[in-house]
Amino acid sequence: MAIEELLERAREARDGAYAPYSGFSVGAALETADGSVFTGCNVENASYGLTVCAERTAVATAVAAGHRSFRRIAISTFDDTATPPCGACRQVLAEFAPEVEVYSEAGEHRMMWRLDELLPARFSRIFAGDDEGIRASGPSHSERMDV
Ligand code: THU
Repeated sequence: MAIEELLERAREARDGAYAPYSGFSVGAALETADGSVFTGCNVENASYGLTVCAERTAVATAVAAGHRSFRRIAISTFDDTATPPCGACRQVLAEFAPEVEVYSEAGEHRMMWRLDELLPARFSRIFAGDDEGIRASGPSHSERMDV
């Protein structure tokens, strides 16, 4: 899929945003390893803190449909500057896709990052004593940083 198409899906998802408190509508489109796309938007709440971001909505929708392997995520807002995912969304994305490519657009402005540059030394299963995770991920961050 062309990145333009994924960004268009994010724009469409942005139209569903429920953002009466911040006025900041966000749409996200998450591409799975098999090329499927799941979208999300931010859903705010009168209690503010219960707000869920577009990226996490997209991850939850994809996981609920049985997908756990992701290639790219596109994010779209009406702002002037392309925004990276917030810290909470980075951690949630890293659970399934530590190297996912993150594309963001706002008007004419576009940015692209890899998640592992946005969230180096993430907390992961390997720190919770998960041997399976250690084998899958190679040397842990703590081993590399041990002095
Ligand atoms: N928001 C997202 O949907 N994704 C992000 O990565 C950053 C922030 C939402 C949360 C809130 O509804 C609004 O943007 C303003 O913070």
